[in-house]
Amino acid sequence: MSNSNHKANKHKTNKFGHKVSSQRLKRVFGEFDASHYVVPVMLLLCVGVAVILLEWSYASSGHNFTVGAPSPYSYVAVSPMRYLDIASTEDLRHRAGDSVAGVMVRDVGASDRMKRRLSEFHAIRDWAAPVKGFSGELMQAFGGLPDDRRETLLASADAVGDIYFAALASGDVGGLRLGEEKSVLWAEIEKLGMSAAEENLLYQLLEEVADPSYKVDPKLTQFVRDTAKKAVPSIERQLEPGKVIVEQGQTVTPQIARLLRLQGYSEDEFPLHQLLVLCLLMFVLPFWLEISAKEIPESRPTGSCVVFVISVAWLCEATGAHVGIAGAGILPAVTLAYLCMSRRFAFNVCLAGTVSAVFLITGLSIYSALSLLIFGFVLSISGFYILHKIDSRENLGYKVLVMAAFMAVLTVIIRRFQGFPVTWESLRLSWPLGETWRVVGQILFFDLVVTYLIIGLLPMIENHIGVLSILKTRDLSHPSSPLLRKLQVEAPGTYHHSLMIGTLAENVAEELGMDENLMKVGAYYHDIGKLRRPRFFVENQLGGENIHDTMSPTLSAVAIIAHVREGIELANEFGLPKKVKEFIAEHHGTTSLGYFYKKALAQGEKVELEQFCYPGPKPQSRETALLMLLDSLEAAMRAESRNISRVEDIREIIERVVAAKITGKQLEDVDFTFKEIERVKEAMLKAFQSMYHTRTVKEIKEVKEVKEVKEVKAQAPDAPLPVPLPADKDFVGRSMSP
Ligand SMILES: [Fe+2]
Ligand SMILES: [Fe+2]
Repeated sequence: MSNSNHKANKHKTNKFGHKVSSQRLKRVFGEFDASHYVVPVMLLLCVGVAVILLEWSYASSGHNFTVGAPSPYSYVAVSPMRYLDIASTEDLRHRAGDSVAGVMVRDVGASDRMKRRLSEFHAIRDWAAPVKGFSGELMQAFGGLPDDRRETLLASADAVGDIYFAALASGDVGGLRLGEEKSVLWAEIEKLGMSAAEENLLYQLLEEVADPSYKVDPKLTQFVRDTAKKAVPSIERQLEPGKVIVEQGQTVTPQIARLLRLQGYSEDEFPLHQLLVLCLLMFVLPFWLEISAKEIPESRPTGSCVVFVISVAWLCEATGAHVGIAGAGILPAVTLAYLCMSRRFAFNVCLAGTVSAVFLITGLSIYSALSLLIFGFVLSISGFYILHKIDSRENLGYKVLVMAAFMAVLTVIIRRFQGFPVTWESLRLSWPLGETWRVVGQILFFDLVVTYLIIGLLPMIENHIGVLSILKTRDLSHPSSPLLRKLQVEAPGTYHHSLMIGTLAENVAEELGMDENLMKVGAYYHDIGKLRRPRFFVENQLGGENIHDTMSPTLSAVAIIAHVREGIELANEFGLPKKVKEFIAEHHGTTSLGYFYKKALAQGEKVELEQFCYPGPKPQSRETALLMLLDSLEAAMRAESRNISRVEDIREIIERVVAAKITGKQLEDVDFTFKEIERVKEAMLKAFQSMYHTRTVKEIKEVKEVKEVKEVKAQAPDAPLPVPLPADKDFVGRSMSP
């Protein structure tokens, strides 16, 4: 059913006309349902805070440095690095600035001011009275001169002043330095050929009336100083591994602190940034994971599973970083993710876990952070292709080794880009081992030990985190597993039925992008309860006497219905995972045994339909719903095998069985849309078709000719090929199995 049709139903009912919860509608409509994430986010927040605080407490116990305080250790460089020597650069720039003493500028108004003052001097008549701006001595000397000499001197002063300022304006001051420009006056005065006394008097007058024509310009000086500073290039230095950055006891300057941070040494400060990033992550992660959950809703993992995988990623990466092998710890997390989740979801969780760790781990050097990001991204992608279709533990072990080898190569490449030379010395295999092998070996040792430890421990914890790993499903679906062996011996018909449903379920799940391993193991164990009374079920009667012929229909129904409860009991007894038990409990939903109900009524018994109904619950997941459909479909095909001759017959039976489950409200708790139901039908048709086709080929070869086929071909050459009957006599002429 399309979304518009859903909306037309005013959100009250689903596509089958049944009431559905608002939460389920939200998921169907693709709205973000925050309630899915409340508990996982809170759990993840707790884990994140614990990791950050543990790191902080480790760093605070004398493993860190403080700016301005004596260094607790002699810190050495652990990775090669080019860095800006800010302190030296600043010092040089400061010196370059200081070398600019001051920029002198010419005062263009000085000449006019001198002329104005000479005019004022000219205008003096009373030489005894003080005049502002002129010294008493000068006034007295000029007052004592005869008038004609005074006029001559004043005229000379005008002429010399003009020449003086003209010389300054042209810049031709004879290479004189600042403050010495007035010597120009003397040169001009001497040219007049006066007596020494008159020359002195003239000089005194000109010195008093002439302002300094050059002065320091503060703004221009600052500009020139800044320009000089900028002209000094930054000083870059190379830090080689092993070189001491700061000695123990030496004060940690801001410059040294910067280097220590870049080298990945922790600082003594409360990890406020990490906590803030963690809070931000808690908002971002649900949306990030919801993207993949929307794409593949069939295989949404449990919240506790996601929390577990991301927590392992954080813990392993933090541990790896603190023992000096950044990049270690990612492989275990990636392996765990692909073991516990579908590959597309695992890819997103891997990326989320590894990338977020970079922002939470304190004291990561820039190179370590980059290494973690590259490792996280590359291993997530390679896991997508390598850690897929795992057949056994040996297969998994082999694939983990391949991933580890891939990581070793990646480590060497990253180190090469970091500046570590890949030389014969670094690659030396003889003792002492080359540096490259030492680092790669440490990472591989850490990763392989932790990964195999997690693989070994996973079966013990997977039930608690709602996970059914590939390994567990492989173990459970192996014919030698205890319950399957028991089924094989004590109820061979049911065993055969379960294997066939398992194969069908696996094929359909693969077609629909669902978890085929889970579907297969669920199908193998769904009828395990029939082990208590195998002879009560038609497939185990092997064509012999039907025990129900001699029983009352009510008793028959009780015995048959009990196989669900008894299946759960057996599952508990044999410790089957919760997800497998869901298949046992839900595979019949609340359907009824109509045959026995009608038989009871026909025999005159006073019975209620409820007495002939399975206790339920109805399928709660897509997987259990699909198994219910396949189980019913297989029984219907078996019952009607004589009437099946064409593909259309199979299609018709599929339509009928699915419609019966929908009208019987058995699928109302599952978020199937009509579109998905159509996909399920097509996938089932394909699976049943291929099953019948396989048998057909065999039968045709054995029987040579099937009469009906010949007849159909003769009558209508273009008609669809008939679907031959199954060859197995156990599936012919039997009534519908419960
Ligand atoms: Fe059953
Ligand atoms: Fe069954």
